[in-house]
Amino acid sequence: METHLLLFAFLIFFSLPSQSAKVVNNYIVQLRPPENVDISNHKVMEGYYNSFLPNTSGNAGDKSRMIHTYQYAMCGFAARLTKDEVDEMAKKAGFLNARPSRVLNMLTTHTPSFLAIADGVDVMSISLGVDHQLPLYKDYIAIASFTAARKGIFVSGAAGNSGPLQATVVNVAPWVLTVAAGTMDRSLKALVKLRDNREFEGQSAFQPSEFSSIFLPLTYPILPGYKDNICLGNLTTIKGKVVLCHNNNAAGIDIGYNVHKHGGAAMILMNGENEGYTTLAEAHVLPVSNVNYADATKILSYFNSSTNATAAIMFQGTIVGKSEAPAVAFFSSRGPSVEIPGVLKPDILAPGVNIVAAWPFTVGPKPMALTNTGFNIIAGTSMATPHLSGIAALLKVLHPRWSPAAIKSAIMTTATTEDNYGKPILDENHHTANYFMMGAGQVNPSKAADPGLVFDIDTKDYIAFLCGMGYSDKQVGFITGDDTQCEKMEKILQSGLNYPSIITSRGQHVVVKRTVTNVVEETSTYKVEVDLPKEVAFKVVPNVLEFNKQDEKKSFVVSINSGAQLNESIFGNLKWVSKKYTVRMPIIVH
Ligand SMILES: *[C@@H]1O[C@H](CO)[C@@H](O)[C@H](O)[C@H]1NC(C)=O
Ligand SMILES: *[C@@H]1O[C@H](CO)[C@@H](O)[C@H](O)[C@H]1NC(C)=O
Ligand SMILES: *[C@@H]1O[C@H](CO)[C@@H](O)[C@H](O)[C@H]1NC(C)=O
Ligand SMILES: *[C@@H]1O[C@H](CO)[C@@H](O)[C@H](O)[C@H]1NC(C)=O
Ligand SMILES: *[C@@H]1O[C@H](CO)[C@@H](O)[C@H](O)[C@H]1NC(C)=O
Repeated sequence: METHLLLFAFLIFFSLPSQSAKVVNNYIVQLRPPENVDISNHKVMEGYYNSFLPNTSGNAGDKSRMIHTYQYAMCGFAARLTKDEVDEMAKKAGFLNARPSRVLNMLTTHTPSFLAIADGVDVMSISLGVDHQLPLYKDYIAIASFTAARKGIFVSGAAGNSGPLQATVVNVAPWVLTVAAGTMDRSLKALVKLRDNREFEGQSAFQPSEFSSIFLPLTYPILPGYKDNICLGNLTTIKGKVVLCHNNNAAGIDIGYNVHKHGGAAMILMNGENEGYTTLAEAHVLPVSNVNYADATKILSYFNSSTNATAAIMFQGTIVGKSEAPAVAFFSSRGPSVEIPGVLKPDILAPGVNIVAAWPFTVGPKPMALTNTGFNIIAGTSMATPHLSGIAALLKVLHPRWSPAAIKSAIMTTATTEDNYGKPILDENHHTANYFMMGAGQVNPSKAADPGLVFDIDTKDYIAFLCGMGYSDKQVGFITGDDTQCEKMEKILQSGLNYPSIITSRGQHVVVKRTVTNVVEETSTYKVEVDLPKEVAFKVVPNVLEFNKQDEKKSFVVSINSGAQLNESIFGNLKWVSKKYTVRMPIIVH
């Protein structure tokens, strides 16, 4: 089977919605699928879509207004329309809603804005940010991705770049695999050497061979009128020196450009407490070393206490396998999800720091040291997300019958919480990372290919979940594109969705059911293992699951009772262990 993989498909909208009824804007129009029609027949559907277009100068359906007709993501189209024309269209049977297109931020650091439209693919990757406080029925992304999931299209979405603040995760719909970003064991070394012989390992993607690593005077410029060193503005005292600059909002490339413009010979880009140990190898325009916060503090105190402070930078190329990884990157957005606190988000951790990728357009200050080669190295959860789409595409080839939820479950239950040295995965400040930072853990593609059991979810469950969120029939309809009548179905609460994780609140007694499907052709016996501290009472019934054939489903009930006196969140695991497999689901008492 041929698997189509969409990493970045962007449709660019230039205009922001205007208030005027006569001004043409780009609208995304959502329709109810026509009845008694083969909706997979594109010709028929085009006719249906065109029938909604405005009649201009007496001609029915002005097709020049059409931008895109959706074949997979939803029933509807994007078109250039005025508000008056939309109001007219809204009177027609089958119309659900029309919204002016919004410009969303791409979740790579310092990039322009696009709106992704995915159509005609099996796997897609969303690298756009949506306000994390918006309900699901308001982020296009939840809507398009729901229809995608319903059609068997796997969707991974970037968790966002608003870390390390808590509760900043975006793209949180339960049918999306939400991806956090971590480091990897490759560094592009730029060593800082001080006159007193101390050495500090930093990084830079620009490794100029002609730069001679001699000691040069250090400087820490503070402009008159400024309280702090920001290395922006008219720096007049830096010529020929190594300039110490704070990594202000991770705008290192821009800072470096300014230092270069004003004659600085090199720059030491110093992380603050927020960035911690996450160092970036970027395409700088001058010799740079980005050092971590601990080293930055030592270098700065050396500078403060010396009358003639000097430093050299030595470029040592790419070193692989010598550093502990992964660690969660400082910028990676954190859970819990504001909108769905009962579903673990992010879901998974993948490499998203210093990722080499094609770079088709020129962004940022010129001259860029690297980007005219057609490649660049950047960091962001949008760099982590395509890794998961690629892995999902591989799983889909191996297991063509698996639903997106089954693929997602396989990825999550086989993830690891240990780094390459067998120690717990850390965060940007070298504290143990928790599930709200890394989801179930770092993805392990080979294990995900053979998970033993999966937690599957079908579309009906997602709709029952949306009803359980308390959304109105109309709001649920915005997401599903159908007439949903919530009172006619059994609602699913957040903790009741068949998700491969459980979140409960402190002081509550929660009972949840989960169902696992045996995805291997063998008889097996699984025994339950739970790691939770003794303060949390739990029970799993039954505690043994036996499977005799492939596709067999077995349910179990977990009851968790945590004392109200618990004063911090607890992160544990429930594992089903057989001779061959360990199926792990994170448990959080929050
Ligand atoms: C355009 O005109 C056709 C008849 O020519 C009519 O069926 C259709 O509803 C009209 N479309 C709109 C949007 O008014
Ligand atoms: C920067 O400051 C120097 C020295 O004060 C001055 O000569 C120069 O014109 C200034 N440049 C700009 C762009 O303001
Ligand atoms: C170094 O001096 C600057 C002021 O010039 C001060 O802001 C900073 O805290 C000092 N840092 C250390 C590590 O001594
Ligand atoms: C300061 O350091 C520079 C570069 O190493 C050296 O040439 C100069 O003699 C030193 N000055 C003093 C006063 O030590
Ligand atoms: C949490 O509770 C334990 C005992 O229940 C207590 O020893 C500890 O100091 C508390 N921690 C905080 C941060 O309040």
